[in-house]
Amino acid sequence: MIKNPKRYTVTAALIYANGPIHIGHLAGCYLPADVYVRYLRAKGKDVAFISGTDEHGVPITIKAKKEGITPQAVVDKYYGIIKQSFEEFGISFDKYSRTSNKVHHETSQEFFTNLNDKGYFDEVVTEQYFDEEANQFLADRYIVGECPVCQNPNAYGDQCESCGSSLSPTELVNPRSTLSGAKPVLKETKNWYLPLDRLQPKIEEYVNSHPEWKSNVSGQCQSWLKQGLQPRAMTRDLDWGVKVPVEGADGKVLYVWFDAPIGYISMTKEWAAENGKNWEDYWKKEDTKLVHFIGKDNIVFHCIIFPAMLMSHGEYVLADNVPANEFMNLEGDKISTSRNWAVWLHEYLQEFPDKQDVLRYALLANAPENKDNDFTWKDFQTKNNSELVGIFGNFVNRTVVLTQKYYDGLVPERGELHDIDKETLATLADLPCKVSDALKNYKFRDALAAMMEIARLGNKYLADTEPWKVIKVDEERVKTIMNIATQITGTLSIVCESFIPFTAAKLYEQLSLENWNLKGETAHPEWRDAGNADLIPAGTVVKTGNLLFEKIEDSTIEQQVNKLQEAKRMNELEGKAIEPLKDTIQFDDFMKLDIRIGTILEAEAVKKSKKLLKFLIEDGMEKRTILSGIAEYFTPEEMIGKQVTFIANLAPRKMMGVESEGMILMAEDKDGSLALLKPHKDVWNGASVS
Ligand code: 2FM
Ligand code: ZN
Repeated sequence: MIKNPKRYTVTAALIYANGPIHIGHLAGCYLPADVYVRYLRAKGKDVAFISGTDEHGVPITIKAKKEGITPQAVVDKYYGIIKQSFEEFGISFDKYSRTSNKVHHETSQEFFTNLNDKGYFDEVVTEQYFDEEANQFLADRYIVGECPVCQNPNAYGDQCESCGSSLSPTELVNPRSTLSGAKPVLKETKNWYLPLDRLQPKIEEYVNSHPEWKSNVSGQCQSWLKQGLQPRAMTRDLDWGVKVPVEGADGKVLYVWFDAPIGYISMTKEWAAENGKNWEDYWKKEDTKLVHFIGKDNIVFHCIIFPAMLMSHGEYVLADNVPANEFMNLEGDKISTSRNWAVWLHEYLQEFPDKQDVLRYALLANAPENKDNDFTWKDFQTKNNSELVGIFGNFVNRTVVLTQKYYDGLVPERGELHDIDKETLATLADLPCKVSDALKNYKFRDALAAMMEIARLGNKYLADTEPWKVIKVDEERVKTIMNIATQITGTLSIVCESFIPFTAAKLYEQLSLENWNLKGETAHPEWRDAGNADLIPAGTVVKTGNLLFEKIEDSTIEQQVNKLQEAKRMNELEGKAIEPLKDTIQFDDFMKLDIRIGTILEAEAVKKSKKLLKFLIEDGMEKRTILSGIAEYFTPEEMIGKQVTFIANLAPRKMMGVESEGMILMAEDKDGSLALLKPHKDVWNGASVS
């Protein structure tokens, strides 16, 4: 673990630009990264916070095929959407870029060439699966088959999502192409392999030199090392990606997991060029602390493969820590893009505008730090109503309102301190350290809880000192109480900035801290000012603002839960199969049916029947009565005047004592609801259908 780093390079996973982002992404990687970086900045550290979109690899080309657009159009579309969501939630990247940029292609090609020139790759000809219909090799997710470990029938060529095993296409049982469904054939091709087996001792040494890594991270690394690392191909036979910079490698691109992490470097180059910095300081100097924030599915790439690449190159520092989180589930079920079981960030903001901090808070409080965790809307409501409104907002509001009421918003001078004041100020001085210690150890839940202790301290102080009662008997004493309550609010505003920055900004404004100049050094308060008993000088104007948080009603939460249930229902319907065809009939059989158009003149429910409606139909000849079991889907009133298609020569049938002279035709939708079959323009009643 690096001591006293001079600068920090903090990266957050380069998400595939093939879809919008959801709460699982935020909770797993981006929020903890943002909290950490905001904290470092508040401490005055030199930080480069780098991320962007991963725009290569099979996930992109598969999405392009699905949407019927080019891979370039896919990445252009989702880069914009993803970047905007991050901005809207206050994820404060210094650079958010893309791996399709020229500098990235150049940087990753240079990196490959560097290793290739040193002879670090093994060029190996192997048999790989090839789809003869699509005329393409089937790398990674282009091939599916049965997992040899857990027998999941739909494991991918690179990984089984059921049991998490890392696979190669040739390990799949009964493989099939996802491009054409065809059974692939084996065909020879040459690829460049990184000999992870030979690098294992160095990688082991590196991983073992970090006993402080989170147990979920070390655990995964040790399990990989125990299995024994295998050489891994760093090139693919694909046409979308960074071209392999070697003569005779036409039609081959770099493996997406080779080029993507190099994206952190190329994006740092972009940031440095734009900000007058030297990118090499942030990647090559020993006093730089490199931290990768990722989700658990990326652990092997960041703890083993990327370090192996960096070691082979030789000029780079290795990650000091990789604080990977586990997964965030939703209402008891795994988040799934394909099943639309997710809370999408762009949709959340439409439904909860200006409530970014509520989601940030709820996700951080429940962050899946050591095990998978569950997001529920009920818990979201509780976190908001009981904690943000009930504790944080309540304390700040009481302080601001009482300062307004008693002192026209001017912070009063403190007088002599009682024991309770001294104890409270001492605790206040300690709490930022508690937050700090947790953050330094990547314990974001503990850090958030310690931040809330500041608000709890404030509430307790006001409850114990009761300024609203004391004001009637000892006005001088209340000045001290309100001064101290304001100092607590000030510290809270500084400490909460890392977690709920939108709220912090409002608080700075209310406490006149946005033009902070206590020491005449900085324009806004810094971490070292937190806990300071004289943070907010007497005479400072405290403004009333809108309430920081507002209660979320049960009906709002119910709407969100219903929305998810609807997604589940639609998803189940997705799987519903079209009814198989009935036996073939002859033309003459069809001609026996007399299908006509008529207009409904009267409609009424049939007594004692839940399902039946009775219609009087103008059929162009005589009027006729038809019964139909559609009362669950249509009211009698809405049917009157509608033209319908009916079978006119069906033998009459008695139902509930009424004779029905035909059958109205309906189409049954996927969810079981019914649709009338109507001519697309009004026709004369009695018209034959053939
Ligand atoms: O899992 C993913 O979405 C990958 N695109 C993450 C890549 S992280 C880094 F290596 F670039
Ligand atoms: Zn499996």
